[in-house]
Amino acid sequence: MSVARVGVIGGGLMGREVASAFGRWFVLDSYPVKAELVAVCDLVEKQREWFRQVPTVRLITANHHELLASPEVDVVYVAVPHNLHETIYLDVLKAGKDLLAEKPFGIDLNAARTIAATAQSSGRFIRCSSEFPFFPGAQRAFRAARTGSLGKLLEIHSGFHHSSDLDPNKPVNWKRQVKTCGEIGVMGDLGMHTVHVPFRLGWNPVRVYAQLQKIYRERPDGKGGMAPCDTWDNALLHTDVRIEDADVPLRLEMKRLAPGERNSWFIEILGTEGGVKFSTKELKTLWTFQRGKDQLWQRADVSFQAEFPTITGDIFEAGFPDCFLQMWAAFLAERAGKLDGKFGCVTPEEAVRSHELFAAALRSHAEKRAVELNTP
Ligand SMILES: NC(=O)c1ccc[n+]([C@@H]2O[C@H](COP(=O)([O-])OP(=O)(O)OC[C@H]3O[C@@H](n4cnc5c(N)ncnc54)[C@H](O)[C@@H]3O)[C@@H](O)[C@H]2O)c1
Repeated sequence: MSVARVGVIGGGLMGREVASAFGRWFVLDSYPVKAELVAVCDLVEKQREWFRQVPTVRLITANHHELLASPEVDVVYVAVPHNLHETIYLDVLKAGKDLLAEKPFGIDLNAARTIAATAQSSGRFIRCSSEFPFFPGAQRAFRAARTGSLGKLLEIHSGFHHSSDLDPNKPVNWKRQVKTCGEIGVMGDLGMHTVHVPFRLGWNPVRVYAQLQKIYRERPDGKGGMAPCDTWDNALLHTDVRIEDADVPLRLEMKRLAPGERNSWFIEILGTEGGVKFSTKELKTLWTFQRGKDQLWQRADVSFQAEFPTITGDIFEAGFPDCFLQMWAAFLAERAGKLDGKFGCVTPEEAVRSHELFAAALRSHAEKRAVELNTP
């Protein structure tokens, strides 16, 4: 079995999830690659300290160039604020390492295009993070749509809702400010998760009408004062996708303020013959529609049947650490040329396309009109 030696740059919320996933890598059944976390870089001592408990980690540094200079690192996962994506991703590629990049793959469209072009010329393997489609229920929805068994498509609805920003006393962080999060705001935070499945099904928006909202304009700065929040909080993107010569509405929802929704990723695909709905709010539940003499919405408990088989019993429930592990399994399998038709991570082309959509959404909102996209 080959070993992929992974370094993490940015040991915050997401960087630590990598240590968690690799710590139970053996849950994968007959999987061809072993993943090992060998190096970590973070500017903050407290964040670095946490990784000292991970037995495979041999290098801990505050300087990402030191991590990239290590011949022991094959693959790098970068999970840092969006204003640093372009510089650090390019450094990774120039160092000759493969990259699992965090979304949104650069702070804006220009950055995304530069990263994708550099990736192409470097010949390195690069993908972007989006783990929710790896839930068994999400895969069932994807497969139902791919088979064409749903008939003529009526509409598609894909979204990601958060709610903790409803609290006006939640302190500000880098995700709430344009200079670090990007002008696209919530679209950069949550948007990649909403487009991964539609894009993979070939559903690329040809036009978009966007409704963007800034709800709280300032938040506590954690030092007794207030700090500005200038990013978009909620985004509704009403798009058209061309499917079999018809325009089909695809609504993308990205919300930081959605009452009661802690972390709800969902997809609904409705057709004349069938339909499918899955939400992480009900992780075991898959709703399917069948048009017969009676029109039936049926609810099934999905089994734990992941894209990459695991030893976990199929009566058990999947959770966030499972879909994150599955995403890594997809990344390393594809890197090894062993994806074998399974669902893969977001490609650089898809990441750039998402930025094209979000840039068009900014224009649409500013000009209060639908904006056309050059869709492949
Ligand atoms: N896939 C997902 O579900 C998901 C969820 C949340 C965030 N993200 C993405 O992950 C990335 C990071 O988000 P997060 O929530 O982990 O943020 P975070 O603030 O929790 O962690 C970022 C870390 O990067 C470190 N850092 C900053 N500058 C650095 C530098 N120059 N060198 C090394 N380390 C540096 C910070 O000290 C911090 O520990 C973002 O791109 C974000 O959009 C993805």
